[in-house]
Amino acid sequence: MILGAPHRHFRVTDSTNARARELVEAGAPGGTVVTAAEQTAGRGRQGRSWTAPPEKALLYSAILKPLDERHLLLPLSVPLAVCETAEELQPGIECQVKWPNDVWIDSRKLAGVLIEAKPQDGWAVIGVGLNLSIAPDEFPPDLRETAVSLFDPSVGSRGKVSPTPHTATAVLNRHLARWVEADRATILAAWRSRDALRGREISWDGGSGVADGIEDSGDLVVVAAGGDRVVLGAGEVHLRL
Ligand code: BTN
Repeated sequence: MILGAPHRHFRVTDSTNARARELVEAGAPGGTVVTAAEQTAGRGRQGRSWTAPPEKALLYSAILKPLDERHLLLPLSVPLAVCETAEELQPGIECQVKWPNDVWIDSRKLAGVLIEAKPQDGWAVIGVGLNLSIAPDEFPPDLRETAVSLFDPSVGSRGKVSPTPHTATAVLNRHLARWVEADRATILAAWRSRDALRGREISWDGGSGVADGIEDSGDLVVVAAGGDRVVLGAGEVHLRL
């Protein structure tokens, strides 16, 4: 498939996911991409908000339509596309995936994914927020220790120039178009090779244990303290530091 035709870019909007939902509900075709330089009400997972200084992050939503069984693992395949995008934009870095669908560099969050779908109407909106050139002190105080950008403008990332959101959009369009059509085995193998949590102590609302990879369904497996195997299908887990 081709992503980015048509492409709607906003200087400011509330949320590119909200714009994309409106567009798909009004009949926009699959492949439509919405980006913004700035969001006033960016949406994160679990009802959180998502903020970024203007022009310093890729704020991207793509319409996927129609949906079929290849898209069942979208929550796994989208972060893989984001990893490849980041690694192409900043050669030398290595990205990992943190269940369910964050992208990390060295245990810090580089990008988040918010997929909003209406399967009965045959569409999904794939939202991606990728930090490009946000300086550490520009992140909200509570995220300063845990968030990272592809390029740190305060140190110049060893003379490299930050990719623009425009460049990043084109690169993500290309990788995402391929990953949304990838087969299960390819997605699962790639995800497992980038799994940031495997073998690490994690906790979640209701328990803690050692992450032991993902099931073929995409669920996370954890070995709890007493040896029980727990399977998590949704929600949020945290590294125990
Ligand atoms: C997360 O919580 O990790 C997911 C964050 C997703 C943020 C992106 S920014 C572009 C798109 N529009 C939104 O309102 N949210 C997503």
